[in-house]
Amino acid sequence: MCGIIGYIGTAQAAPVLLEGLRKLEYRGYDSAGVAVLEGGGIDTVKTSGRIEALAEKVRAAGGLSGSVGIGHTRWATHGVPNETNAHPHVSSDGRFAVVHNGIIENYVELREELISQGVSFRSETDTEVIVQLLDRCYDGDLKQALMRTVSRLRGSYAIGVLSASDPDVIYASRSAMPLILGIGAGENFFASDITALVSHTRNVIDMDDGEFAEIRRDGISVFDHSGKLIRKPERRITWDIAAAEKNGYDHFMLKEIMEQPAALKASIEPRLRDGRVVFEGLELDMSRFDRVLITACGSAYYAGCVGRTVIERLCRVQTEAELASELRYRDPVMDERTLVIVISQSGETADTIAALKECRSRGAFVLSIVNVVGSSIAKLSDFVIYTWAGPEIAVATTKGYTTQVAVLEMFALWAADRLGRVSPERYAEIAAGIARIPERAQRALDLNASVRRLAKRYHGNSSLFFMGRDLDYAVSLEGSLKLKEISYIHSEAYAAGELKHGTIALIEPGRLVIALCCCERLFEKMVSNIQQVKARGAKVLAVACEGERRIFSEADDVLLVPRADEILMPVTEIIPMQLFAYHVALENGCDIDKPKNLAKSVTVE
Ligand code: M6R
Repeated sequence: MCGIIGYIGTAQAAPVLLEGLRKLEYRGYDSAGVAVLEGGGIDTVKTSGRIEALAEKVRAAGGLSGSVGIGHTRWATHGVPNETNAHPHVSSDGRFAVVHNGIIENYVELREELISQGVSFRSETDTEVIVQLLDRCYDGDLKQALMRTVSRLRGSYAIGVLSASDPDVIYASRSAMPLILGIGAGENFFASDITALVSHTRNVIDMDDGEFAEIRRDGISVFDHSGKLIRKPERRITWDIAAAEKNGYDHFMLKEIMEQPAALKASIEPRLRDGRVVFEGLELDMSRFDRVLITACGSAYYAGCVGRTVIERLCRVQTEAELASELRYRDPVMDERTLVIVISQSGETADTIAALKECRSRGAFVLSIVNVVGSSIAKLSDFVIYTWAGPEIAVATTKGYTTQVAVLEMFALWAADRLGRVSPERYAEIAAGIARIPERAQRALDLNASVRRLAKRYHGNSSLFFMGRDLDYAVSLEGSLKLKEISYIHSEAYAAGELKHGTIALIEPGRLVIALCCCERLFEKMVSNIQQVKARGAKVLAVACEGERRIFSEADDVLLVPRADEILMPVTEIIPMQLFAYHVALENGCDIDKPKNLAKSVTVE
């Protein structure tokens, strides 16, 4: 969702801000803007639409000269995405500019209060109250004014502040929204995430809720909510800068699909030692739990659906998966005997954070599976297992999902062993299968050319179905989401046995049904379901395990993926479906990395 960036140094700020905003584009946005301190005043350029349009306006405005500035990509929540509602927002007297990611829940009340004091508002946004309030609170001390301002705010925010009265400093503060500080030489930064800064610095400070950063050219001071100076550790970013670039690929999504063998290797290899699964630092007595609850949103939830089956099957402990966006509303029963597994690529998903807090407040132990180090979910959890997928830029998650599934499979084996529920032979068999996941993922990628041909054949379908049973059903949920989010084609995933309970009425001649048939035990039943839809004129594209001959006489098209133990199939089985979604979207001319209305990191509830 919204992205913020700030710069103070000796270089021209505008190019730094625009470059940073381009890196933040992946978060999802519909308007953008920058503000630069120039000649004792604040110059602002804003636009609806893409960063290129903003860059063009900046050029037309003469380039905006000045070495201190802030920038923003906006994903509209309060007010339509137009130039007036775009950030930065400037106070009525033009002294202050603010960029903001988050939602100010009490903005109506604050707005009315300010209007009654004579302040007039230009935009429909919640953010404008911050800058107008800051203006009212300012009496010559910007830090104090900002502290007073945020003490009035309810909701979530990462804020960046520019002041014409204080030209040698910028401020940033956060509450429940991501914010990091970048440390350079004679220049310093703030941003929503490291991708915006990594071309300038690899040394960062992770901000925590309630903290303020005073950022000057020659140093950064961080204060707690009471204004007391605190020491914050620095962190060095080790991933390759190329990881956040397209590297010759047309789209980040394709690059990330192709990176999966490496991402899986990075997530699996360090945790497999002499055929044993090891989670460094995890000392959990599994016998203290009588149930496991997995919670997450979107694809992370679908990874959780795979995890639910694998954990329950291996550990023989009751395991459920529940949407984080729903969990709170049903007043869930849980206590210290519940192990909650929270899954999130970004670690910043608002609904997932809310569910996590709910579970912790009820005494559950929270173990999270997260990709972004230092993210909010990582900080709020009792224990974190990181997926080492590297930065994921495309809105449609691919390597994020497969590494989550791989880690869940490893955790299931680890936990089953702790509980004494898996024989040494079965343990060795599964561990050996896990070690070969990256190699199987690589072989699944060899299907790319065949999938592209199928996409050319089927991209015109306006609606289609996925079906599968058990783990295949869990994977079909993710396959269907992938397709709809980037190609905008209506698609639904069905537990294959459910089709005849209603949905089969929608099957008509020419309708494409994608049948996932990698659970060998259930193969015959899937064949029956394929016959049922074919009898009504559907075209069937089946995904099955290598060596499966019978499927050729049942389906119109077949994709064979490397065979493995049934519980390890999801990681490889999803890969042709990711490729299918990609190629269909490409055929249909969609904006693959930035699908309409979607954001990479969903930081609003
Ligand atoms: O960052 P998270 O894993 O918490 O994100 C959860 C969902 O928003 C995310 O998986 C979303 O569904 C993706 N766009 C799917 O590709």
